[in-house]
Amino acid sequence: MSESNDAIGVVGVGWVGLVTAACFADLGRDVVAMDVDEAKVAALSAGQVTMHEPGIEELLERNRERLTFTTDMDEVLGRTRLLFCCVDTPPTYSGDADLSRVQAVVSKLADDGTHALVMKSTVPAGTGATIRREKPSLAYVSCPEFLKEGSAVQDFLHPDRVVVGAEEGSDWAADAVEELYRPLGGKLVRTDVASAEMIKLASNAFLATKISFINEIANVSEEVGADVTEVARGMGLDTRIGPSFLSAGLGFGGSCFPKDTTALKQLAGNSGYHFQLLTSVIEVNELQKRRVLKKLEKHLGKLAGKRIALLGLAFKPNTDDMREASSLVLSARLQGEGAKVAAYDPVAAERASELLPDVEFADSAAAALENADAAILVTEWPEFAELPWAELAGRMSTALVIDGRNFLDPASLREAGFAYEGIGRPG
Ligand SMILES: NC(=O)c1ccc[n+]([C@@H]2O[C@H](COP(=O)([O-])OP(=O)(O)OC[C@H]3O[C@@H](n4cnc5c(N)ncnc54)[C@H](O)[C@@H]3O)[C@@H](O)[C@H]2O)c1
Repeated sequence: MSESNDAIGVVGVGWVGLVTAACFADLGRDVVAMDVDEAKVAALSAGQVTMHEPGIEELLERNRERLTFTTDMDEVLGRTRLLFCCVDTPPTYSGDADLSRVQAVVSKLADDGTHALVMKSTVPAGTGATIRREKPSLAYVSCPEFLKEGSAVQDFLHPDRVVVGAEEGSDWAADAVEELYRPLGGKLVRTDVASAEMIKLASNAFLATKISFINEIANVSEEVGADVTEVARGMGLDTRIGPSFLSAGLGFGGSCFPKDTTALKQLAGNSGYHFQLLTSVIEVNELQKRRVLKKLEKHLGKLAGKRIALLGLAFKPNTDDMREASSLVLSARLQGEGAKVAAYDPVAAERASELLPDVEFADSAAAALENADAAILVTEWPEFAELPWAELAGRMSTALVIDGRNFLDPASLREAGFAYEGIGRPG
């Protein structure tokens, strides 16, 4: 292990930080990764993986020699010049981004030009300028992260683009970041800090807008007898539109879209601009999760005393991240109507159990469906498409499936004896 300061520093070892650390190590760099969470650092140091993310375990194992996990910021500062800031920036009650963790990191850095802070955390445009005003000699680079949970390692190693925003005086650091990313390919966008910050926020807001848009098209399709999956297929073939993020469903969740759209809306508001479109995107998303209850009531009447099974709890497949998952709203709404909620998720049950009081956690989809009055498919885990649905129909009190992700085949479900309701598909 090198004793010079050419190691890469990573501060905050969550989804982004751990993937960043593991991938830079895989590129052959020594990495010193720091977190304030002592239990997490102890687990990672002992070779345990702290989250479910395909490929991360192998990467950590393969690069053990090059990776150091620590709670000691001085150790990081002593061995590095580039510090990738990957701490969380959750929403405050007002919806603005909470930058207290970023500020805690900045407070540890000397204003003497030794280190560069490379911001991977998603922050409001203007954050870099504030930090540079506070510490003018600290080099600062905005390098927003675009990985998706569930395919984070792949996304990091094969980026569509790498955005590097820097101002005069920080060129050495921006060049070093560029150099670090060069082996990964991807188009380089070298720009100023504020624009780099906006690229991240605008990208997430645009994708969220696409989702809310197709969800509204789904809702209209239900009224006029169209099938939104056909509509999206036809739209997506237009190269100006493209097929991605046109899947109608229960709306977006997760650790990024909800908070980043709200943060951008608030950022605009703070600057005196009312971001009307984004306000609607957020509202459409909120209502979308709740529409499922009407679909249930159409078949079951009042939901009090009914047993409803949730298939999938995480906000998307291949992750155990429960942040802003639709299952949280659904479960609360169902319980509010007096229903009993059973649930199954292949990997998220442990995290979910802390967040979903009075939910019965089953250890298989079949167990959750036993005597259920309805199944709601919340997360499109591939295994749910493979379930023996014909057999399960006989074990439920009512053979009813609400497919919240348009993931199952309606014809085979109906053949198996189910009443099937998708999102934006003919009844
Ligand atoms: N999760 C994603 O898919 C994703 C994708 C792109 C960008 N981002 C952005 O990246 C940032 C990190 O997201 P995440 O999902 O990895 O968060 P996370 O909550 O999984 O991890 C954040 C980590 O930072 C640590 N931390 C907090 N304060 C610290 C401090 N002062 N010093 C050291 N460590 C500290 C926490 O203990 C935690 O381990 C956020 O701004 C997020 O918006 C996330």
